[in-house]
Amino acid sequence: MMRDLSVDIAGLTFRNPVTTASGTFGYGEEFLDFLDPGQLGAIFVKAVTAKNRDGNAYPRMAETTGGMLNSVGLQNKGVDHFCREIYPKVKKFDTYIIVNVSGSTVEEYVEVAEQINELEKVPAIELNISCPNVKLGGMAFGTVPAMATEVTAAVRKVYKKVLMVKLSPNVTHITDIAKAVVEGGADVITLINTLLGMAIDAERRRPVLSTITGGLSGPAIKPVALRMVWQVHKAVAVPVIGLGGIMNATDAIEFILAGASAIQVGTANFIDPQASIKIVEGIREYLERHKIASIKELVGALRTE
Ligand code: SIN
Repeated sequence: MMRDLSVDIAGLTFRNPVTTASGTFGYGEEFLDFLDPGQLGAIFVKAVTAKNRDGNAYPRMAETTGGMLNSVGLQNKGVDHFCREIYPKVKKFDTYIIVNVSGSTVEEYVEVAEQINELEKVPAIELNISCPNVKLGGMAFGTVPAMATEVTAAVRKVYKKVLMVKLSPNVTHITDIAKAVVEGGADVITLINTLLGMAIDAERRRPVLSTITGGLSGPAIKPVALRMVWQVHKAVAVPVIGLGGIMNATDAIEFILAGASAIQVGTANFIDPQASIKIVEGIREYLERHKIASIKELVGALRTE
C-alpha cells in the first residue's frame, strides 16, 4: 500500500511534512551535492533583511551539551541581492521556497515582505519575530503580544500569499503570542526559534560568544519545543510547523503527534547534510509499520487519556 506523506499547509500541498529550518540550509544550493530539494516538502531559506548585514563578530557559534549556540546576527546581503542573485537559482528547485523575512522595525519587515511578494515562485514567507541575536527588532517583536500583532498586521496588508510567523520560546505564555499573531493575520505558525543561552570559557573567565548570549538549538531544546507546539496547536486554529532539536524520524513523529502539520530540520543539517531526507524515509517506514495510510492522521493524535 502507498503511504500518503503529503500535508496541507494553508492551501499549499507539501509533498511530505519535512522541511529545512532557515539559517541551517543556506539557500539550498549548498546542499545540492547531498540531496535533491525536490525530495523535501519545502525549504526555508536564510533570513533576508532590507539591507546588507555583516552579522555579529566572531566567535558566533559554540557547541554545548546536546546542542549549539549561535549569534550570527542575521548576516545576509539584503533583499535586492536576494531577488537579483539568489532567487533565479532557487526558483528552479522542485519544492516550495519559503523566505524568512527579518527586520529591525515594522517598516523594514513591510519593505522586505513587499518585495518578496513579487517573486512568483515564492508562495510564502516566514516572518522572523524571534531572532535573539540583534539589538533592534527580532525577538523584541515576538515577546510582546501587542507588538507581535502590530508587525504581523502591517505585513499582512502588503503580503498577499501565505504568511507564516516564527515564534520565540523566550516568553512566559507562548499561547498569548500565538493568538496575537493569528489576530494580526498569520496563516501558519512556526515554532520554536532558539532559546536564549550562553556559554562560558572557565579557563579564560570569558564568554565564548562575542555577543555573550546566543540562541540555543539542537536536541537539548526538544522537550521545550514539543511542549510549546502542543500548547499552540490546542490554542489556535491555524496549522503549526514544529521545530527544535529534530534529529531523526522519531523526533519528527513526536512533533506531529503534538500537533505539528509539518516540521523543520535545523541543527541536524550541520551534522548530517542528508538528515532531512533520512527523516522523510523514516516517516514512511513508521507509517508502514503502524499501517497508517496518511501522515495527516497523526497530526495532533497524541493520546493523553
Ligand atoms: C541569527 O542570524 O542570528 C539567527 C537567526 C534567528 O535566530 O532567527
